[in-house]
Amino acid sequence: MGVCLSARIKAESPCNTGLSAKYVSTDGNDMSSTSSKVSSFSVPPTPRSEGEILQSSNLKSFSLADLKMATRNFRPDSVLGEGGFGSVFKGWIDEHSFAATKPGTGMVIAVKRLNQESFQGHKEWLAEVNYLGQLYHPNLVKLIGYCLEDEHRLLVYEFMPRGSLENHLFRRGSYFQPLSWNLRMKVALGAAKGLAFLHSAETKVIYRDFKTSNILLDSNYNAKLSDFGLAKDGPTGDKSHVSTRVMGTYGYAAPEYLATGHLTAKSDVYSFGVVLLEMLSGRRAVDKNRPSGEHNLVEWAKPYLANKRKIFRIIDNRLEGQYTLEGAYKAATLSLRLPIH
Ligand SMILES: Nc1ncnc2c1ncn2[C@@H]1O[C@H](COP(=O)(O)OP(=O)(O)OP(=O)(O)O)[C@@H](O)[C@H]1O
Ligand SMILES: [Mg+2]
Repeated sequence: MGVCLSARIKAESPCNTGLSAKYVSTDGNDMSSTSSKVSSFSVPPTPRSEGEILQSSNLKSFSLADLKMATRNFRPDSVLGEGGFGSVFKGWIDEHSFAATKPGTGMVIAVKRLNQESFQGHKEWLAEVNYLGQLYHPNLVKLIGYCLEDEHRLLVYEFMPRGSLENHLFRRGSYFQPLSWNLRMKVALGAAKGLAFLHSAETKVIYRDFKTSNILLDSNYNAKLSDFGLAKDGPTGDKSHVSTRVMGTYGYAAPEYLATGHLTAKSDVYSFGVVLLEMLSGRRAVDKNRPSGEHNLVEWAKPYLANKRKIFRIIDNRLEGQYTLEGAYKAATLSLRLPIH
């Protein structure tokens, strides 16, 4: 995580969290579930004030006392992870009343608490409430509620029992067995469905932070995208892009976006290619601990990707015997492919 944190591109963004009028629908086609859900609603025209965002969402407004109880006073041993925004704690609530319950009973939640010194924090917090308060899809993590009390900013999510893809790919230890080839493909497909939903004509959202730590896994390895703090409404009318100050994470952000600040859905597609490459190779997008010439995964892998006879050189050797050359080649060329628009 240190790598990603220190590599976070820190620049101030004008951060317009207003949404344009939208009609959102989902096909509910999750890989493991047969349930089919369609949600639709119209959203008031942009821009929306903080009050409007908070009022119009279907989210539960928690008090700080509720969340203290649910997490046993933010006990250090219940920390699930830490990111640029703050720490994430495990907690328990009653699934109907949402009141705190005894650990081990009721519904498990993940509570993200903003570090108070976080400069971008409030904007990212509000963007998360804005987007996840309105967008529902089997491949997006479910936001249950939030807490806004004095200077405190928290977010309450469904708990994702298998944590992040980052941990599964890069953490060594007995708990994290290397993900099999089939599971990697399942996760890639789930994450792609989440991204496709965001980019769809009805939703038109650019995610801007597609990376392994933001892909969370449920008990069946269904992938769900989390962290909408940097998300933006896509361009409207005949505009080709949204102009922004550059934000995101080095190694994942598209070079043309870094160079120009012009954000399009293609920037997310580039990041998808990087994540797919991380899954195929078991290497991080940026890894300063590797020999020189291998720090940047994309630069290092590119010469091998388009060559069927060389492809095996970049595939994670923990996957030996699990994939066909044809399959590896298909996935590798997909990671290289430019989006069609
Ligand atoms: N809903 C959740 N269920 C289970 N674990 C979670 C959940 N949300 C976050 N986590 C864990 O907490 C970690 C930290 O998450 P967070 O989104 O704050 O930061 P990050 O994605 O690692 O980094 P960054 O701040 O650069 O985006 C995640 O990597 C994941 O392991
Ligand atoms: Mg994250």
